[in-house]
Formats: sequence, C-alpha cells, structure tokens
Amino acid sequence: MELKHFIDTQDFTKAELLDLIKLIRLIKQADKQGATPKLLEGASLAMLFEEPSTRTRISFEVGMTELGGHALYLKPGEIHLGVRESLSDTAQVISRYVDVIMARTLKHETMLGLVENATVPVINGLTDYNHPTQVVCDVLTMIEHAPEGKKLEDFNVTFVGDATNVLSSLMFICTRLGMNFTHAAPKKYQAPDAWMEIAKANCKQSGGSIRVMEDPIDAVKDADFIYTDLWWWVGQEDEIPERRAAFMPRYQVNMDLIEHAPEHVKFMHCLPASRGVEATDEVMDSDHSIIFDQAENRLHTEKGLLVWLVYPHLKKASAEQKAVHAGQIVDFLESHF
Ligand code: CP
Repeated sequence: MELKHFIDTQDFTKAELLDLIKLIRLIKQADKQGATPKLLEGASLAMLFEEPSTRTRISFEVGMTELGGHALYLKPGEIHLGVRESLSDTAQVISRYVDVIMARTLKHETMLGLVENATVPVINGLTDYNHPTQVVCDVLTMIEHAPEGKKLEDFNVTFVGDATNVLSSLMFICTRLGMNFTHAAPKKYQAPDAWMEIAKANCKQSGGSIRVMEDPIDAVKDADFIYTDLWWWVGQEDEIPERRAAFMPRYQVNMDLIEHAPEHVKFMHCLPASRGVEATDEVMDSDHSIIFDQAENRLHTEKGLLVWLVYPHLKKASAEQKAVHAGQIVDFLESHF
C-alpha cells in the first residue's frame, strides 16, 4: 500500500475528498452512539508544533486516544526541528518510533521537508500557506448545515476578510468540489494571482466558480455560508493599524452585513477569533453561527484522517502469531531471570 500524506487538498481528487468526508461521517455517527471502533490500537502519533494551538492539538490527541492509539505532544522548541539536527534526520528518526506525524510548521517548506524524509504519513496541521485539515472539517460542517435539498455543487460560500492560509485552503477545496466561491476584501488583501490560477483550474474541471470583489454586501447577497478569519496573526503586529484601517468597519461580519444575505445564511470561523474585530459577538453567538459545530467537527475529521492514512499500514498479527511471540518472550524471561 502506497504511503499517503495529507499536505494539500489539491493532492486529492473530488472523489477522494468526498470518500474521506463519507468516512468521517461514519466515524462521527459511531462516536455519537459511543461506538468508536479502536482501529488504531497500539499506534502512536507524533504531534510537532512550532506554534501554539487549541483545536488542532486537542482534537488530534483526543481523536488518537479514542481510536485506541496514543499521541505525543511535542511543543514549540521541545525537539530539534532543523536546529542542532537536520530536518531530514529528525523526520527519519521520528518515523522509526511512530505510525504517523502531524505537524504545525511556521514555513510550508518545513512541512515539505518532513514529507520528503518521513517514512510514515505526515498530516499538515497548518503552515503559512494552508490549513487542509480545517477545510475538510468545514466542508463536512457545510454539508450538515446546508439548506434542505441543496446539492453541494450549488453551495455559495463567501469569505470576507484577509487572504489567510485558511482562505487558500477553503477556496481550493470549495472550487475542487464544484462550489461557488467568493472572496471579498480590500484590493491589497485579496487572494493572490497564484491562488486564483489554482482555483480557476479547479473550476474548469469541477464546474464551480470563483470571484474576488471589493464589495462585501454584493459578495454575501446569495451566500449560504459567510466565513471569516483573523485580520492579523503572530508576526503581523506592526501592521495592525494599517490592517484595522483597511478592514474596519466595511469588512466586519456584523448583523448589518448578515442582513444583506439570505435569511438561512450560516456564519463560520475557523477560530481563534478576535471578537469585536473581524466578527461581532452578536453574529458569533447568533442562530446564524455554526462555529462550535465547526470546532467539534475537527475531532471527527482528525479521526477520519488518521484512520484513512494509518489503518492500511498497521501490522495486523493473528491471535496465533501473537501467542507464538508472547510464548517465546516469556520462555526466555523465565529461563534467564
Ligand atoms: N482552527 C485552528 O487550527 O485552531 P488552533 O490554532 O487552535 O489549532
């Protein structure tokens, strides 16, 4: 079985992504009945973080435990990741200990370096370029909250705000699946040409559509889902006054903007959020908001991803083989100690 990594949704076809979402839904159904199968019994996950995390860290660790496995949290600065040891050596060594690696790296190149050298599956838990696990979870959440009878290919998704790593992944997966995607932002903060080229190529294949515009009111008028993300991130503190001036108040998701969308519109945010900045409390805590269902779905998504990538590679010894090995070891211990 070929080794598969999960670094970019662009590495997968529409059919593969929809199959993954079907698997996640089966695992979620099992979880809701208290019947999660222990498919990864005895398996280990290394979680490498160069940045802090709440959702990614907890959902992967809890997910692995619920599947019968074990997760190691290797927090920023805890291991040699390109410092005092080459990335290649670290990736090869970790691969000898664990069955799967999940990493959050500052630079996308670090993620690609891990993939190049690891001999177990690597899952991208966010880089400066993208956040693929988040957006698989987002599509699952959209399917669960779509207007009754509406086909996935007819979903209208509008992202209002900065061209973040979540935006790149969201526009890629939505266009790959054939949805209609709109980005509304001031010119300077709109999706770059390179991302637009990828999204347009996806649309050509899938029949989806992609638009970028400055007017947020026009952008939300047919939206089934309005999504936003932080306007600045760690390392962009110097830009806060300029960014605040560019986005506020026009691009804030508040009730005035929601009222320009269809009545059924749902509000999404990957979190963490700066409440009162990119979205108001009134919206985040309204009936339109599905942000906590979205956050919960990270857990089900991580479990689906882990099973999808790891289960096919686990060594599955028969009861007879296990008994033979246990017998040999016990005989040795009893005759020597
Ligand atoms: N959405 C998300 O990735 O959250 P964390 O940064 O808390 O992991």
